[in-house]
Amino acid sequence: MKLFLHTKIILGLSAIFVVQLGNQKIVLPEGCSTQTKSVAQTGSLKESFKDDFLIGTALNADQIQENDPRAAALIQQQFNAITPENIMKAEIIHPGWDKYDFDMADKIVAYGKKYNIKVNGHTLIWHSQLPAYARNIKSIDSFKTFFAGHINTVAGRYSGKIFSWDVVNEALNEDGTMRKSIFLEHLGDNFVTEAFRLAAAASPHTELYYNDYNNEQPAKRAGCIVLIKKIKAAGVRIDGVGIQGHWHIGKIPLKEIEESILQYSALGLKVMFTELDIEVLPRNFSGADVNQRMKEDASLNPYVKGLPDSVQQQLANDYAALFDLFLKHKDKITRITFWGVDDGQSWLNGWPVRGRTNHPLLFDRNFQPKPAFYKVVEAKKNFDATKKGF
Ligand code: XIL
Repeated sequence: MKLFLHTKIILGLSAIFVVQLGNQKIVLPEGCSTQTKSVAQTGSLKESFKDDFLIGTALNADQIQENDPRAAALIQQQFNAITPENIMKAEIIHPGWDKYDFDMADKIVAYGKKYNIKVNGHTLIWHSQLPAYARNIKSIDSFKTFFAGHINTVAGRYSGKIFSWDVVNEALNEDGTMRKSIFLEHLGDNFVTEAFRLAAAASPHTELYYNDYNNEQPAKRAGCIVLIKKIKAAGVRIDGVGIQGHWHIGKIPLKEIEESILQYSALGLKVMFTELDIEVLPRNFSGADVNQRMKEDASLNPYVKGLPDSVQQQLANDYAALFDLFLKHKDKITRITFWGVDDGQSWLNGWPVRGRTNHPLLFDRNFQPKPAFYKVVEAKKNFDATKKGF
C-alpha cells in the first residue's frame, strides 16, 4: 500500500500535509513523515526472512481496526504474523461468568484472513488481566468450570481460524518453581497439562505453545523443561515454546538464549521469540512481570527528545547480534514477533513507569525505520553472503 502526498497547506509560518490513502485523507503536521517509505526504499522484514522464520508484531485495537493508515501500511509491508496485544485476554474476551465478547477477536481473525497473515492467539490461561469475577471465585468446582469453559469456548470458537495459541502464559517463578497463581492455588500444578489437554481437544489443528519471560535464564529454563516434559509424559500435545524476549539495551543474554534454543528444540519443540523489544530506559529489574512497577521520576525518562546517536547505535548492534543468532539457528526457530509496530505505541512507554518516551522497536514514532531496522536487514544479507563464501 502506498501513501500519496496530496496537498501542502501553508498556515502562517507553519505547514501541514494532507495525505491521501485510497479514498481516506489524513492530516499530518510538518515534520511528521508524509510517506511510508516503499519496500524498494527500505527493505521488508517479512521478505528478508521469508526463508527463515515468520516476522510478527503485536497489534492493539486501533491497529486491528486500521485507524491509522500509516500503521496499517507498515504492518502489511513488514509483517506476516500477528498477535493481539490485549484483546484475546480473559478480561476482554470473557468479561462475565457467562458473558463472552468476541467482537475484537473476530476482527483480528478477519484481519489475518484479509491480508493472509497468521494469527497467534494470546493467551488462554494467564494470572494477569483476569476479570474480577474470576479472581474472586472461591469454590474449586466453580473454578474448574470457569477454567474448562473458558478454554473450550475460546479455543473452540477459533479452531481452524487461527494458526496457534499461547495456551499458558507465565506459569513459572524465576527459580523455576511454579508461580503462586490462582490457577496453582485452585487446580494444583497439573493445571498446565490440563490447559493443553483442553486446548488440543477444542482446537485440534492449532499449534499450542507455552510462553514466558526470562525462560532463557538457566533456573527458569530448567523449570520450563520440567513443565514441558510433564505435558508430554501425560500424552498431551505441545508444539512449541515462546521466549518473550523483553530485554534491556546492552544486556542481551545471547549465551543463554542460544543454550535455550538448543535445549528446547532438543525436546522436539518449535522455538519462538514472541514479544521482542529492547528497553532503552533505566530499569532496576529484568523480565516483564506486568504487576511490577517503578515510581515516576524525571531521571528515568532521559530520551524525551529522541535517542542520542550512541544509544541508537547500541540498540542497532543489539538487534543485529540477536538476528545473527536467530539466523544461525533458523532451522529451530519458527517466528520472531515484536511487541508492537512502532515506538509510539509500545507498552514500554507506560510500563514499568508511566508516561515515559521509550524507543524499543525497529520503527520510530513517525513510522520510519531506525538504524536497528537496517542492521537487522543487513544481518540477513551478511548471513547469506557468508554462506555463499563471499
Ligand atoms: C502487555 C500489553 O502490552 C499492555 O498493553 C498491557 O497493559 C499489559 O500487558 N507479557 C505478556 C503480554 O505476555 O501479554 C504483556 O502485554 C507484556 C508482558
